[in-house]
Amino acid sequence: MSRILTGVQSTGRPHMGNILGAIIPAIELANNPENDSFLFIADLHSLTQIKNPKTLSENTLQVAAAWLACGLDPNKTTFYRQSDVPECTELAWYLNCFFPYQRLKLAHSFKDKSDRLEDINSGLFTYPMLMASDILLYDANYVPVGKDQLQHLEMTRDVASRVNNKYGEIFVIPEVKLQENTQLIPGTDGEKMSKSRENTIDLFQDPKQIKKIINKNIITDDTPLEAPKDPQSSTVYQLFQLIASSEKSLKMKENLKAGGYGWGHAKKELVDELVNSFAPQREKFNYYLNNPSEVESVLIKGAEKAKKVANTTLNRFRKTLGYNI
Ligand code: TRP
Repeated sequence: MSRILTGVQSTGRPHMGNILGAIIPAIELANNPENDSFLFIADLHSLTQIKNPKTLSENTLQVAAAWLACGLDPNKTTFYRQSDVPECTELAWYLNCFFPYQRLKLAHSFKDKSDRLEDINSGLFTYPMLMASDILLYDANYVPVGKDQLQHLEMTRDVASRVNNKYGEIFVIPEVKLQENTQLIPGTDGEKMSKSRENTIDLFQDPKQIKKIINKNIITDDTPLEAPKDPQSSTVYQLFQLIASSEKSLKMKENLKAGGYGWGHAKKELVDELVNSFAPQREKFNYYLNNPSEVESVLIKGAEKAKKVANTTLNRFRKTLGYNI
């Protein structure tokens, strides 16, 4: 059995791109009984950018509610909030003392962020060591991440090797499990769906709002109703085929190609599919938002499990370093 671990940023209410592109594939991996999986909400990392207590805690609640609503099973996955296991900040400090400043200076993520953010704090700079700590604390074998996190994983492996070379086998050296973004989820403007482009679709919102967004924000060309239309170049069809069954997708494709079927028809089918196929998740998400204490209790239980593992690793390392704990 391998231990797989990953962290998710607490950036607030996940949109359709996050759900289809990241949350659902990660849940499939986590629910696989061959994996002992750990999944946490990286709310300590969020402090590098979010200094509003209400936003910070609400973002965490929304992210947790979304994962639970989409089928994450807390009995199969150790699901916790990073800040509930402050042991990771202690380990991060130790790791900082083993990692060369000059290497940390080369982190792309720091360079990218410091180019665009106003608040360039030291937390942003040492972010990779907190991330290394998240991973090494739990003896993770595999870490599923996107391409943008590869350098952080290299740094994790590097700092773990530096410690092991000095003291023997303290840490498990984790392997990356690259999550190829197999499907691009287009936003309402046809470009990759992302918060910063303001082209997202919130699947958890009121169905009336979903209808409004689809009708207003997806631009279609002015091909007349009778004329054949190209499904592949249409955002309506691209979104539809991501969520509808293959029979339904084929039918829409044929209808568009045949002509006599307008964008209004296609949009209506898309709205119905978005509304109906995500109805159970929408209901659960809203249930959790209205019952935050249930989410809380899931996260607290997860943190208890996580803490046991964390403390075993940490004790091993504390003693090695010469601390008498
Ligand atoms: N930095 C990651 C991101 O931006 C989130 C993260 C924090 C993470 N700690 C982690 C991912 C540990 C994997 C393992 O997406």
